Order: sequence, then C-alpha cells, then structure tokens
Amino acid sequence: MTTIRWSDDFLVGMSDLDQDHRELVERITLVRNAVEDKAAPHRLLAMVDALLELIIRHMAREDAHLRRLSEPGGVEHRRRHMVEHARLISRVNSARELVAAGYAETDEWDDIAVLLTVTELIRTDFEMIGHLRREGLLHADSGTAAAGRPVN
Ligand SMILES: [Fe+2]
Ligand SMILES: [Fe+2]
Repeated sequence: MTTIRWSDDFLVGMSDLDQDHRELVERITLVRNAVEDKAAPHRLLAMVDALLELIIRHMAREDAHLRRLSEPGGVEHRRRHMVEHARLISRVNSARELVAAGYAETDEWDDIAVLLTVTELIRTDFEMIGHLRREGLLHADSGTAAAGRPVN
C-alpha cells in the first residue's frame, strides 16, 4: 500500500495552488483507503467524484498560470505540463468508470496517488514555479504576481 502524507516540502509558495495540493493529497488518500477497505460502491463513487472535481478545478487554475509563460523554455514546459494534466484527468476518469462498474483496484489507485503527488505536484509543478520566476512572473516566496496582483 502506498500512503502519501502531506509534507511542507510540497509547498510551491503560491497559496492557491498549495491549498489545492493539500486537499488533493487528503482526497486521494481517502479514496485509496476506501478502495482498500472495500467501501460501498456509491460511497466510493462520491469520493472519486469529489476528487475528480478538485483535480479538474486545480488543473484549470494551473493552466491559467502556464498560459502566462512566453519564453521558449516556458512555452515548451507549458505544452508538456498541460499534456500531463490531460493525461492525469483521463486516467482518473478511466479509474472512475471502473469504480462505477464495480471494479475498484488498489494498484490502480496507488499508481494514481503517485502520479498526482510525485509526478504532478513535486516534479512538474516545481518546474512551473521555476519558469514563472525566471520570466519575472512571480516574486520569490511571495505567492503574488510580479505586477503586484494576487496570482489567484
Ligand atoms: Fe498541481
Ligand atoms: Fe500541474
């Protein structure tokens, strides 16, 4: 079993994204534990739907930040990052269909938990923060946009 616990090492320094990430870790853990405990299908499906809704809302929020990148490295990062978001949403949608059909696989949800945290949050989101900072779109550690506007 893969148990992923929130760590302040996951903080990217943008308060809106950090709040989402904290909730994502909580929700994927709830789903993962419910699958292992063989929760009632309707209860599990409601948890998966809440997770999926949060993932979609969070990724739209990040995509808005990614669209502000304009230098070649940033544009290439945006393309790769948005593809990764689309892949992850598609993967969770597929797992949701399996849950709806009565098949909840622990291995599948373990893989999704790792993708959501290790890949998306830790690796790719930190790369995005680096690009935003390099392009002067983010003050270091401020969580606000360079022009003084809040980023959210
Ligand atoms: Fe993220
Ligand atoms: Fe992301």
